[in-house]
Amino acid sequence: MERNHLPIGVFDSGVGGLTVAREIFRNLPNEKIIYYGDTARVPYGNKSADTIKRYSRQITRFLLSKDVKAIVIACNTASALALDAVREMTDIPVIGVVEPGARAAVSATSSGRIGIIGTSATITSGLYDRYIKEMMPSAQVFGKACPLFVHLVEEGMLDDSVTVEMIHRYLDDLIKNDNIDTLILGCTHYPLLRSVIAREIGGVFSGYTKELPDAGGASNAAVSGEGKITLVNPAYTTAMELSQVLKECGLASEAPVSFSDHQFYVSDGPDNFRAFASEILELTIDNVSLMLTDQL
Ligand code: DGL
Repeated sequence: MERNHLPIGVFDSGVGGLTVAREIFRNLPNEKIIYYGDTARVPYGNKSADTIKRYSRQITRFLLSKDVKAIVIACNTASALALDAVREMTDIPVIGVVEPGARAAVSATSSGRIGIIGTSATITSGLYDRYIKEMMPSAQVFGKACPLFVHLVEEGMLDDSVTVEMIHRYLDDLIKNDNIDTLILGCTHYPLLRSVIAREIGGVFSGYTKELPDAGGASNAAVSGEGKITLVNPAYTTAMELSQVLKECGLASEAPVSFSDHQFYVSDGPDNFRAFASEILELTIDNVSLMLTDQL
C-alpha cells in the first residue's frame, strides 16, 4: 500500500485538540486522521514533565500500531514537553503546535513584543520563548498561564461574565504594562474564546479559517488592525505546516476523504467527547471508541 493513503495520528490530552483536528479537516481535505483524546487523564497542563512524556509515549505507541504516516501533537502542553520524546520513538514526521505558533507570531509582530498564554506547564517550559528568540533574537516574550480558561470552555461558558472577568484578570497586565502587539493562543481551548478575547482586549485575528464557530460567530477575515493586538492561532499554522511537511516527504494524499473515514478514540467518556464536539465545535462525531490507557 502506498504510504500516502495512510492516516495521520493526532493526539491531545482530551477534547481540545479537536480545534487542531478541524483545521486539518478544513485545510487538508484529502487526509484522514486517527485522533486520540486522553480524556481520562486531562488536564496535562498542571502535571510534571515526566508524566506528560510518559502519557505521550503511551499514546504514540498506540498511534504507531495503527500505522500512521505522521503524528501531530495537538496539545500545546505535550508539544512543549514531549516533542523530543515522541520524535525519538519513530522516523515518521512528528509535528507539534509550538513551533508553527511561534513562527506565526514572529511574522505577525511589528514591535517584537509577543505575549503567550497557555497552561502552567506550557508557560513554565519556556519553549515558545525559545523558538521565538531563535527566529527573532530581539523579541521580548511575555508568558501568562491561564489555567481556568480550559474549564470555562469545557463548561461551555464561552461568552459569560465570569469568562470576561477572567480575561481581564489574566490579560490586562500583558496589554497595559507589557504592551504586546501579538498574542499567541497557546492552548487547544483558547481559539474557542477568540472572539470574546478580541472584543475585550481589542484584538484582530491572524490565521483563522473562516466560518469556524466560536462564541461570537466571528468573521475571521481581519488580519491586521491599527493599534490592535494580533491573535495567533497555532492550530491553523500547524495544519499549514503539516500540509507542507507531507508534500516535502511525498506523503500527501490526493484522494478526498469523507468525515466517516476519520477515527476517534478516547480514554474515558465517549459521550462527553461527542457532546463537546457537537455543541462547542459543531462537529458530528459518531464513531468514538473507548481505548483505556492501560490498553495503550
Ligand atoms: N490540551 C492542553 C493544551 O493545549 C489543554 C488542556 C490540558 O491542560 O490538558 O495545553
